[in-house]
Amino acid sequence: MKNKSLVSINDYTKEEYIEILDLAEKFEDNPVQNLLKGKVVATLFFEPSTRTRLSFESAVSRLGGHIIGFSDTGTSSVTKGETLYDTIKIVSNYCDLIVMRHPLEGSARFASEITDIPIINAGDGANQHPTQTLLDLYSIRKTQGTLDDLNIFMVGDLKYGRTVHSLLMAMSQFKTSFNFISPDELKMPEEYKLFLENIGIKYYEHKDFTDIVSKADIMYMTRVQKERFSDPIEYERTKNAYVLKNELLSGTKKNLKVLHPLPRVSEIEQEVDKSPKAYYFTQALNGVFIRQAIITSILDLK
Ligand code: CP
Repeated sequence: MKNKSLVSINDYTKEEYIEILDLAEKFEDNPVQNLLKGKVVATLFFEPSTRTRLSFESAVSRLGGHIIGFSDTGTSSVTKGETLYDTIKIVSNYCDLIVMRHPLEGSARFASEITDIPIINAGDGANQHPTQTLLDLYSIRKTQGTLDDLNIFMVGDLKYGRTVHSLLMAMSQFKTSFNFISPDELKMPEEYKLFLENIGIKYYEHKDFTDIVSKADIMYMTRVQKERFSDPIEYERTKNAYVLKNELLSGTKKNLKVLHPLPRVSEIEQEVDKSPKAYYFTQALNGVFIRQAIITSILDLK
């Protein structure tokens, strides 16, 4: 991990996931330390974010580091036509690590190839969101006591949802069975299903999950990603495909936890927030400890 970019969840091995999760546990016990004294982390967000950017910034601040960057390209020279290539070249002179979110798939890999500074992918289009996946793994292990032999239900926008793509790749290493619940228009892309088939992992596809929800260990809800649709009519048709209510949770397993990378729009009713099965707000909190673990591992400051 030392000095290596984290662009795809596949950049880390299963053993490295566990190493990060174990380290995050230590940060959860002791989140305020001075490990990043004198270090500068740049957060370059070419797309909106609340959790990812602020939890990275919180993670760095609590470890005594400094943050530079932008959360809105309107305040940067991108508006004057500066390329991503030039932006990365320049920002690399000012920091030790770059955290970048960008709407284009492959942009984080591109950035990692033009600088010696490590790049952390904070989401590239519909492709990957590896730090979200590591906090999802942390949340799953914390609530289930294991990452092995779990039945994961992924619900909603499985086509454009980068979080489910990264999570599928990571959980496939832990004897997981998957249930994909989505409208036809938003099914899990073929490449991910083919990946599972090639390594002998079972998955099932459904349009509705009322009859099978009792089998779930993790229900991973997702937002229909309005910003990725080229056809607004298709978005309108699918946006309310699934709305989770307490009623649906009544016959579920005791250990079931509802996760969601957030933000939510309408896919989880607010009444669910009070359910002991709702875990999404704590999941977002876990992001701080995981990001502390990722940054200190990459900068070799553990
Ligand atoms: N989960 C997540 O990526 O949230 P933000 O878009 O608010 O960063």
